[in-house]
Amino acid sequence: FMKEALSVVVIGASGDLAKKKTYPSLFSLYTSGFLSDSNMICGYARSKMSDDEFRDKMRPFLIKHGSDDQVESFLRLCIYSSGGYDDAKAMSAAAAKLEAHEAQQTSSKANRVYYFAIPPNVFTDVAAIIKEVGMSTTGWTRVIVEKPFGKDSESFEQLDRDMSAIFTEDIVYRIDHYLGKEMTQNLSSLRFANTFLEPIWNRNHISSVMISFKEDFGTQGRGGYFDQYGIIRDVMQNHLIQVLTLFAMEPPTKFAGEGSEISEHVRDEKVKVLRAFDPVQLDEVVLGQYLGNEKEPGYKEDKTVPDDSVTPTYAVVVFRINNPRWDGVPFIMRAGKALNERKTEIRIQFKRPPASTFMFETDVPANELVVRVQPGEAIYMKTNVKEPGLSNDIVTTELDLSYNKRFQDTYSQLPDAYTRLILDTLRGDKSSFVRDDELRESWKVFTPLLKSIEDKRFKLIPYEYGSRGPEQADELIMRVGFKYTGTYKWHP
Ligand code: BG6
Repeated sequence: FMKEALSVVVIGASGDLAKKKTYPSLFSLYTSGFLSDSNMICGYARSKMSDDEFRDKMRPFLIKHGSDDQVESFLRLCIYSSGGYDDAKAMSAAAAKLEAHEAQQTSSKANRVYYFAIPPNVFTDVAAIIKEVGMSTTGWTRVIVEKPFGKDSESFEQLDRDMSAIFTEDIVYRIDHYLGKEMTQNLSSLRFANTFLEPIWNRNHISSVMISFKEDFGTQGRGGYFDQYGIIRDVMQNHLIQVLTLFAMEPPTKFAGEGSEISEHVRDEKVKVLRAFDPVQLDEVVLGQYLGNEKEPGYKEDKTVPDDSVTPTYAVVVFRINNPRWDGVPFIMRAGKALNERKTEIRIQFKRPPASTFMFETDVPANELVVRVQPGEAIYMKTNVKEPGLSNDIVTTELDLSYNKRFQDTYSQLPDAYTRLILDTLRGDKSSFVRDDELRESWKVFTPLLKSIEDKRFKLIPYEYGSRGPEQADELIMRVGFKYTGTYKWHP
């Protein structure tokens, strides 16, 4: 793609996502040589601004990602064009600027990426005006869109019908930034490049899998948005289910190689595993909402949240995958805001060693493999060994692959998830983007549960800001088979 002309148009350029993620990621691509001085980045939004005013607004979000010179030369690629989200005339004025720039390039092919950093209620309006006046006539056009992709099966189908009447699936890149994280990207390599792992990646050896997402902060002024979605739609139906499907899918026919069909193999397997999910049992769900403590406000103290809100900020949901590999293994998904720590991890508990009390006169704990997604990327295996010295007792320790120690040179430069995914878009690699049928299947898994919550069939359990969450969640986790052993702790 680097030999051809390229313009990137950021729709919603004055919003939060554009400032905090899209532009800094484009800047990283520039400093690492994937975007050059011949490219053009056009911001589009409703507010009226000159190019220079826009650059002044963006500058503070870039300075920590590069030198002053780099920031200034990147900002010279950035222009701004204002217009409404259904205003074809304004979009056509923006397109005219792209064309004028493209005409100066040596390549006869000019490609365009449109990045939608806008709320979903204007997705189809914007799509329609791009289709009308903004498509490249000499190269490809690709469109990056971001969640929420509906609120349930019905609204997803509506959005999908509206969008697919305008754009074909091959040009739509649905971003889920969890798919761009190093450890998510690493999951398939870990599974399929290690003969000591893949043979035990099944019900014969694994007794439970827990995917945890914990944040040690609340909704931080995003309460108005959050209250319409809740923790299940905010992180489970998208980020965590994506991690789960990569964890649980069968090996794809092929991973690497040329051609757009390669990325479909991974996505085919993710859809297949989603189809094998059993309906969620309501007695395998615990929901909570946080209360304030001495320092921090409770969820409902956020002025943008209604006083009678029944939106969960914490949830544990147990999934069962009804296929030969996973029959009987609980997949415990746990996510919450305003908890005691921030971490995302996958914890795989293996079956206990056979006859351990007979052989070792003690109940030896089961092995656990942990893939720590963030912070402090690591893979470690809780391992039992003889206590060093004259003792023959068993102690639990770990085989530890902490990325900051093992990959010291690259660790501090790991790319942000958005940077990697925008680069994949430029390369036309869709394997880390979400296909429409994946969303269809995952909404099928979550919609009945979400309806039951809306029908008020759940008791929302209050928990304190900064706590581990409701005790009932631990009880459920243990009831379905997860074992807490308690004594051993890994230190990041
Ligand atoms: C977003 C959610 O999609 O992901 C937020 O809307 C959440 O509520 C965030 O905080 C988590 O992303 P990360 O990369 O900080 O773990």
